[in-house]
Amino acid sequence: MTTIALLGLDLILGLIAVALWAYAAVRAQTSGLRWAMAGLLVVLVRLVTVLLLADRGWELAAERVTVGVPLALLAGTAALGLLIHARRRNRTGSTAARTALWCAAGASAVSLVLTGVVGYPGWPGAAGHNHSHSGGVAVTDLRTPPIGAARKVELVAQTQAVTLPSGRVVDAWTFGSLPGPTLTARLGETLEVTLRNRDITGGVTLHWHGLSVPNGEDGVAGVTQNAVFPGDSFVYRFRAEQPGTFWYHTHQHGREGIARGLYGALVVQPASGSTAGVDLVLPFHTIGKTAILGGSDQVQREVVPGGTPVRLRLVNTDQQPRLFALTGAAFRVVALDGVDLNGPTEVSNQALRVPAGGRYDIAFPMPASPVRLSVEGARQAGLVLAASTDAPEPEASQPTTTFDPTTYGTPKPVPEMTGEFDGSTTIVLDRLPRILNGRPALAQTVNGGVFPDVPPVLVTEGDLLRMRVVNRSFETHPMHPHGHHVLVLSVNGRAPTGSPLWLDTFDVQPGEVWEVALRADNPGIWMDHCHNLEHAAAGMMFHLAYAGVNTPFTHGPGSLNTTE
Ligand code: C2O
Ligand code: CU
Repeated sequence: MTTIALLGLDLILGLIAVALWAYAAVRAQTSGLRWAMAGLLVVLVRLVTVLLLADRGWELAAERVTVGVPLALLAGTAALGLLIHARRRNRTGSTAARTALWCAAGASAVSLVLTGVVGYPGWPGAAGHNHSHSGGVAVTDLRTPPIGAARKVELVAQTQAVTLPSGRVVDAWTFGSLPGPTLTARLGETLEVTLRNRDITGGVTLHWHGLSVPNGEDGVAGVTQNAVFPGDSFVYRFRAEQPGTFWYHTHQHGREGIARGLYGALVVQPASGSTAGVDLVLPFHTIGKTAILGGSDQVQREVVPGGTPVRLRLVNTDQQPRLFALTGAAFRVVALDGVDLNGPTEVSNQALRVPAGGRYDIAFPMPASPVRLSVEGARQAGLVLAASTDAPEPEASQPTTTFDPTTYGTPKPVPEMTGEFDGSTTIVLDRLPRILNGRPALAQTVNGGVFPDVPPVLVTEGDLLRMRVVNRSFETHPMHPHGHHVLVLSVNGRAPTGSPLWLDTFDVQPGEVWEVALRADNPGIWMDHCHNLEHAAAGMMFHLAYAGVNTPFTHGPGSLNTTE
């Protein structure tokens, strides 16, 4: 049984138990005994369920195992005992028995409240969060000094009515086009990007998703800079130190800004320059209800002669995981989140599940027949590669299996990530009623709290940190630590058997437990959050903060910065 099924089962059993005990109390004089026995049976099944859950991950069931279910079991057994006792003495209307049955119903309800309202851990760590992490260096000092030889780019944030290839017009917010221009740099080159805001009244920033830039260049409003308002500008500078596929987007009220178009791709080419053959960057986005792949809401065609090496860089800039499929060619998955995989083998007829914010690079030699790239749920948008303009379009296929990165490629030692861990932290994701921005809400919580009231994860430069991420909720959370890639240690207790997996956005699906390692090699105050930005805005964010780094910027009430 899957963990999520167990979580669901436990919830349903808990509700049924409450109902059975309550009904037994109502019918105490007549059929009460039968209902009470059923109630006890359900609690016993719950006991098995929560023990199975605890085995999958202690944090998934801790309060159920230690308090909730024992309480329900105790109250239930006592109530049943009293009822039987009363019957023996022929006092069917015993008030004591009836009260005990109500208590049993209450105990089952309490266990549901513990799980559904209090959450885990029951105490959200130390007090609230503030930015004055003990003196030292300011994020504004963690910047790249200007150099003459930088590759200079200007991006102008603006409202723009964009006419898509279908003729449909969307009222977008863009960095000049939809998506923004693809930025490219060669490994080792320094990019200097000037951001200007023409008329995005809520402000913008530029965040370099997946790139380990110096903290002061990270573009998080309220943490590493102030949002850039109309008429203002900000200059970002960083050395491209990792070849691969990345993307950029606003990090000021990104939930709305990115959705409306404030994003683009960023490709770092190897030092030798671009790779031979066809190299296409394909961000997939949904604007309003329209799906666009690259810049088109229709099937685009490219003429590619047979034998040409093809590389497709798939970027998911949406809030939900997307399933990509390639029809007509076997391919290799050569990189995830901008990092090459070791020993990639041929894949065919498998869907690629790209997390929100994640990137998959796939490569294949162009076959003689046409090839089609499609995205599940987006019938209009797609890509067809064919040797001639009149070749027939292959149908989009629906692979029944999904590519599993944890068993793909060849293992290889990662010496820089082995050795003693200097610290470990557990991040429990859940959906709980909380006060969010001053209002009650069904929030997306981290360790029972909502941002900014989630204590930061504190590290010291050089630390090797083990991070365990547990998803107790029924939703997928693509977790994205800024400024670092993490090495996957295990998913649901299983270590990857293939290539080392270095990710900057990992999809923690409902009930999943991930363990990752992070080397604290980039000082700063870094966001770590769910890249479903609805969830981020609903509280699912925290900081990874280095000892001795502080920030002069603020967010939240009274500030114009909206961190997500
Ligand atoms: Cu792609 Cu904090 O973001
Ligand atoms: Cu989420």
